Amino acid sequence: MRTQVGIIGAGPAGLLLSHLLHLRGIESVVLELRSREHVERRVRAGVLEQGTVDTLVASGVGDRLLREGLVHQGIELRYGGAGHRIAFDRLVPGRSVTVYGQQEVVKDLIAARLAVGGDVRFEVRDVALHGLDTASPSITFEGGRLDCDVIAGCDGFHGVSRPSVPAGALTEFSRDYPFAWLGVLAQVKPSASELIYARTERGFALHSMRSPEISRFYLQVPAGEPLESWPDERVWAELKTRLETVPGFTLATGEILEKSVTPMRSFVVEPMRYGRLFLAGDAAHIVPPTGAKGMNLAVSDVRVLTEALAAFFGEGETGLLDGYSDACLRRVWRAQHFSWWMTTLLHTFESDDAYGTRLQTSHLDYVTSSEAAATTLAENYVGM
Ligand code: APR
Ligand code: PHB
Repeated sequence: MRTQVGIIGAGPAGLLLSHLLHLRGIESVVLELRSREHVERRVRAGVLEQGTVDTLVASGVGDRLLREGLVHQGIELRYGGAGHRIAFDRLVPGRSVTVYGQQEVVKDLIAARLAVGGDVRFEVRDVALHGLDTASPSITFEGGRLDCDVIAGCDGFHGVSRPSVPAGALTEFSRDYPFAWLGVLAQVKPSASELIYARTERGFALHSMRSPEISRFYLQVPAGEPLESWPDERVWAELKTRLETVPGFTLATGEILEKSVTPMRSFVVEPMRYGRLFLAGDAAHIVPPTGAKGMNLAVSDVRVLTEALAAFFGEGETGLLDGYSDACLRRVWRAQHFSWWMTTLLHTFESDDAYGTRLQTSHLDYVTSSEAAATTLAENYVGM
């Protein structure tokens, strides 16, 4: 088989890339390890920056997003017995975020690719990359081989693309956190109209949502926490303890539909390219979810890569491809800093002594009382 761009991974990065390339008349094949059902059911984050929404709408995959997505004009920071609204509508007028689950984006993109006969293959085992430093790289997999001009590694943090690059060609930057997030999806009407980021002495909690009937929650738990330690009753009790900290707020409970533990990590690889292999999304960088940046970064990488590939296949121009990594990394590092900053602002760290806790409170007081500091949070949250 032959194609122009061989894409590994059918997450938001790989699928959107395949879709945008198709609109530019560039052929691709997407090779995904898991089943279609699996990727469409996988519950992930759900906050889209305006730029992400614009990209999806402009490329014709935004109809359901515009119908079902929830536009949010602010978030609440809750600590010390009070809630403080960070008002995007006032601090960064005209900019907002939209709450719409990542797996809904994935469903919409798969439907769009298949509707025009796009080649997206699921349950493809033993993917291996070859000839990355030549002009004709290829991908082999169980029962097949794909020759291409360029390979896009969109296979997430645990994929095969990044490890296929010879040792020493890439530099990794990372930070691990001593905690994880227990994520919970529940059949219950959200107890608030905007997201609540809560810092308590027992740890962080987040109240998010997916629809008027479905709520999404996260709890800071120790790194490596087994899911079995969190029966549903304990989840609700802990969410109530961490969220019912302001007068008059009661958390509604309901049936828990899904539960999982996600480790927290910051990671960047530089450059995001080796020869004819271009890394995009989680394959190149991950952020702790506190800043809600993961999917937005994936979309922004893919936007840059699409322009570069259009110039390459259209005019034989390699300048944009050569600039791909630098162009992405500026935004990637801004999101790295913001995500680390939100994480340290809101989580409890075992290493924190009384001094550290006072610093964190002072930091929160500053962000919630200074127009300048609140604007810093707001403009990063809605997207730079
Ligand atoms: N062969 C083929 N596909 C693979 C392989 C492999 N060896 N390894 C992983 N994959 C697939 C995964 O099954 C997954 O469907 O690559 C896809 C990568 O998708 P994502 O992990 O969703 O990554 P990305 O598309 O970059 O999107 C980033 O995902 O993890 C979240 O918070 C993150 O929102 C961000 C978004
Ligand atoms: C989510 O709804 O899944 C979500 C929201 C905000 C975050 C992270 C995840 O910061």
